[in-house]
Amino acid sequence: MGRSGVTPSARAAGLTPGVSTLRDVARRTTSSLHNRGLLGSLDHALTLGADVVFDMTWRVHTRGVVDLQGLDTGGANLDHAVEYHPTRVREFWAVMSHLRIPTGGQGFVDFGCGKGRVLIMASEYGFEHVSGVEFAAELHDVAQNNVRRYLGLSKMRTRFNLVHGDAATYRIEPCQSVFYFYFPFKDTVMQAVMDNIRASLRDYPRQAYLVYNYPKCREIVEGMSIFELVLNAKFWGNSWRAYVSRGSVS
Ligand SMILES: C[S@@+](CC[C@H](N)C(=O)[O-])C[C@H]1O[C@@H](n2cnc3c(N)ncnc32)[C@H](O)[C@@H]1O
Repeated sequence: MGRSGVTPSARAAGLTPGVSTLRDVARRTTSSLHNRGLLGSLDHALTLGADVVFDMTWRVHTRGVVDLQGLDTGGANLDHAVEYHPTRVREFWAVMSHLRIPTGGQGFVDFGCGKGRVLIMASEYGFEHVSGVEFAAELHDVAQNNVRRYLGLSKMRTRFNLVHGDAATYRIEPCQSVFYFYFPFKDTVMQAVMDNIRASLRDYPRQAYLVYNYPKCREIVEGMSIFELVLNAKFWGNSWRAYVSRGSVS
């Protein structure tokens, strides 16, 4: 264990922030200028900066990509899972400002919530109940710590519910009506989650929203015809789709 008290394996797994050397920064800056030009690079720097400011503001650790191999996921749906990669702070705010989803009494769920960045942003947006389900025990633990720190600093009275488990078997509550996905898993698990959403909307009819960042399994959502597409747009080059439920679900 190093002076920071962080084990090398935890750092290697991306569960703790790494330190970029000046050489890394110089290499990335040169490559960005080459690929994006000056204005594009400045804009990209703002996007990265927003993520850094978010972590500093709430004294949380939500950045970094985490490979799931070697984490304690229970194994069952690991083959269908996508690694941890947090939603960009700037993109989330742009999409939510565009959608203007009413928050009163609405519960928000992030399927595959990772370190909990979106949960905190959903609280800031105004949702009263915010839930997240994550199957990697290590990420669930980080999310719990992050939410605890956030609640210690924020004035929000949000009720959080963080579940360690598989999204495919997550029990959807009748008070939950905003379903968030950042391409967390592939077809098989997405189909199972959508079946659960459909059953919940059939048993407890309500207006519901589905927000899908990087919508790789959109055919599953759109093929069930319980949701109507209300947003199909790119934000800083990344695709987002959002849907509103159509009414009665059979
Ligand atoms: C692309 S990350 C998104 C993280 C977070 N939602 C965000 O937007 O910042 C996908 C997450 O889904 C989790 N995941 C993948 N398959 C899962 C499953 N079957 N059940 C629960 N979580 C899962 C991964 O461990 C990872 O943390």
